[in-house]
Amino acid sequence: MAAHTVGRVARPRSYLMCPPDHFTVDYSINPWMEPGRPVDTPLAQAQCTALRDVLRGLGHRVELAPPRPGLPDMVFTANAATVIDGRVLVASFRHRERAGESAAFERWFRLRGYRPVRRAGEANEGEGDHLLAGGVILAGHGPRSDPGSHPETGGYFGRPVVALRLVDPRYYHLDTALAVLDGREIMYLPGAFCAESLNRLRDLFPDAIEADDEDAAVFGLNAISDGYHVVLPAAASRLAGRLAERGYQPVPVELGELLKAGGGPKCCVLELRAGPGPSRPGPSPALN
Ligand code: ARG
Repeated sequence: MAAHTVGRVARPRSYLMCPPDHFTVDYSINPWMEPGRPVDTPLAQAQCTALRDVLRGLGHRVELAPPRPGLPDMVFTANAATVIDGRVLVASFRHRERAGESAAFERWFRLRGYRPVRRAGEANEGEGDHLLAGGVILAGHGPRSDPGSHPETGGYFGRPVVALRLVDPRYYHLDTALAVLDGREIMYLPGAFCAESLNRLRDLFPDAIEADDEDAAVFGLNAISDGYHVVLPAAASRLAGRLAERGYQPVPVELGELLKAGGGPKCCVLELRAGPGPSRPGPSPALN
């Protein structure tokens, strides 16, 4: 796939998704979740299927983990693990409501042939809080992941970790407040970070796109970029315009049902960054 514009190049990726067959909002672990407000599970399924088809249509590979009853948030596979160079660090969830997902996803990675696979020792909500920008892991902490998990994450992947403290309860995972667009280009919501973390971001990424509150509040920063296409909620129209000015191709999607659980497009995908050599996953068993 060779989409080029103003030097931008889309690189094909592999993603893990999990169909929201058991999606509900029965508990509340973030300010978006209101148990009692009706959720349309078939609509959530249709929205996720559409996202999967958009990603496949852009040339990406999408694998599916089987959903489990009683784990309604499994659809948010960004929280399953962090996967870099084929190494898998499976999440340890902050809330007991999601704790059962760790074993389900660990099993998927092991059956799928990933090695090594390790369960994080401290609260660590996977790629929801760990975004790779250039060679550096940007690591959100506060509401969910514990900063005590950073040495393990950095050591396991052999990469530097930049700790970023999240201070707005609405933006409880890093991927709700910041998206990596390409290499070291990012977009983020300044108000979601403590002053020190914001200074760090401004130092490291002086050319970043700073989003406004309205675009962030529709989860515009919960975007999936392949270096050229940026899949983001349709409602984030100003952000889409700013991305287009920079030579990106915004790809709007509708994930309104998932937003009722505090999720958007990026929450529903985990990038499977397989590395070369023996850590590469083997042939797919019939899991999907
Ligand atoms: N209801 C889920 C939770 O609160 C939503 C997770 C969204 N995932 C993400 N990567 N931001 O944990």
